[in-house]
Amino acid sequence: MKISNICCIGAGYVGGPTMSVIAQKNPDIRVTVVDNNFDRIDSWNSDNLSNLPVYEPGLDNVIREARGRNLFFSKDIDKAIIEAEMIFISVNTPTKTYGEGKGMAADLKYVELCARQIAKISISNKIVVEKSTLPVKTAQAIQSILDTTGNNVKFEILSNPEFLAEGTAMRDLEFPDRVLIGGQDTIDGKKAVNSLVEIYSSWVPKKNILTTNVWSSELSKLIANAFLAQRISSINSLTELCEKTSADIEEVSLAIGMDSRIGSKFLRASVGFGGSCFQKDILNLVYISKSLGLFEVANYWEQVIIMNNHQRNRFTKNILETLYNTVAGKKIAFLGWAFKKDTNDSRESAAIYVADKLMEEEAYIEVFDPKVSPSKMYSDLNYLKSRDNASNKIYLKPVQDPYKAIENSHAVVVLTEWDEFKSYDWNKIYNLMKKPAFIFDGRNVLNKEELQKIGFDYSGIGKPTD
Ligand code: UDX
Ligand code: UDX
Repeated sequence: MKISNICCIGAGYVGGPTMSVIAQKNPDIRVTVVDNNFDRIDSWNSDNLSNLPVYEPGLDNVIREARGRNLFFSKDIDKAIIEAEMIFISVNTPTKTYGEGKGMAADLKYVELCARQIAKISISNKIVVEKSTLPVKTAQAIQSILDTTGNNVKFEILSNPEFLAEGTAMRDLEFPDRVLIGGQDTIDGKKAVNSLVEIYSSWVPKKNILTTNVWSSELSKLIANAFLAQRISSINSLTELCEKTSADIEEVSLAIGMDSRIGSKFLRASVGFGGSCFQKDILNLVYISKSLGLFEVANYWEQVIIMNNHQRNRFTKNILETLYNTVAGKKIAFLGWAFKKDTNDSRESAAIYVADKLMEEEAYIEVFDPKVSPSKMYSDLNYLKSRDNASNKIYLKPVQDPYKAIENSHAVVVLTEWDEFKSYDWNKIYNLMKKPAFIFDGRNVLNKEELQKIGFDYSGIGKPTD
């Protein structure tokens, strides 16, 4: 069946960019993106493309081309659902903060609400596509809700996980390593899969479109994220060893990455991975394994998270110890708050946890990030509930000018690898700071030798200490 009308529920970091590209590449398909956060919809419709709710390099050009032509951001959720032949569910699936599986399992409340709403109002057959990352067998639950609460309308469920990484989303969407589509092995299931294959094949070579059963597709997404995170924790676990032995982690990464069996990607040592996916998906994998009685499997994967927490704590402890075991009353400048460069997303960013620990020690932090808004920084901290919101405002101050953030500080801490940090006037910065002037480079992006020549006391991650 040729699809001519698509609806996507959830206009977030995944739904927004993905639907923009689907619309751009399929001008004959009407794509409507809806969200129950109406402010978000207003921002997606903003005339000023620098006000889009998601910052992704290149996204503005795609929006300019497709919005109003065949791409629409709408508040009329029911209408979009009723008119669509294919509905993507792209709502968030955070880790549960209550009840059974608290702190581990994915919270499927929003997904279920979507399924119920689709079932309630649909009057024609539909293909429902899981875009959100979901635990294995979620499709079964969605199918059951749709079949038993609907109006005798037929629903076909597909799993089509998204593998884009933030910051490079537009490139990842345009040239995906693979598109994964899971469907049922029935005549209608195959027809539904083919409809989605057809949409993607407007721009993705057929050989890169992989079709599997639904469960393989759901599980592959969790496992892909677990493998990627595992590589980072593996390299990060060795940074401590490098620091103690005078090896250099960047040289080690280069040396092992040149082995084509290992490969060079995802071997960048850091203060720890963040983002909305890695921790959540591994916790979910651990939870699923435990609930199936697979304790060795669960413990194995849990180590990836334990190591990531350790890396963040170790980094913070090093700051504290280097600053003579006290940061109370000292000003510390943060460069970066986003969980990686080229995004305004800061979910689970290492910066939040490093800031929180330093604030516990009564340090005053001034943060500069080129894209993350001050309100997002405060909501990240308030969410931790380590202290009241008013105290967070006292101890942390977002600043628009990096040099102002750094002026009179005891230390500069690099938390995100934004390119612009490399080209700052580090001589000027040295003169602005208290002495000794410390730099803690949580991303190994600055030039250690040059900074040391200027007079800085530089610490990187997994770098020999001298
Ligand atoms: C995505 C995936 O969908 C999630 O499974 C994955 O693990 C992380 O990335 P993302 O797009 O990053 O989520 O989340 P977010 O930016 O929070 O967007 C979700 C949107 O869904 C929000 O705008 C929210 O308002 C909307 N939403 C949520 C609804 O429209 N209806 C709901 O019932 C719940
Ligand atoms: C990830 C997956 O890459 C993507 O396929 C999936 O769809 C969603 O989750 P994302 O979280 O957006 O994407 O970004 P990613 O580039 O994977 O980075 C995640 C975190 O790992 C960031 O904090 C990043 O700085 C960190 N990282 C990444 C490292 O510390 N070292 C590396 O070598 C690579």
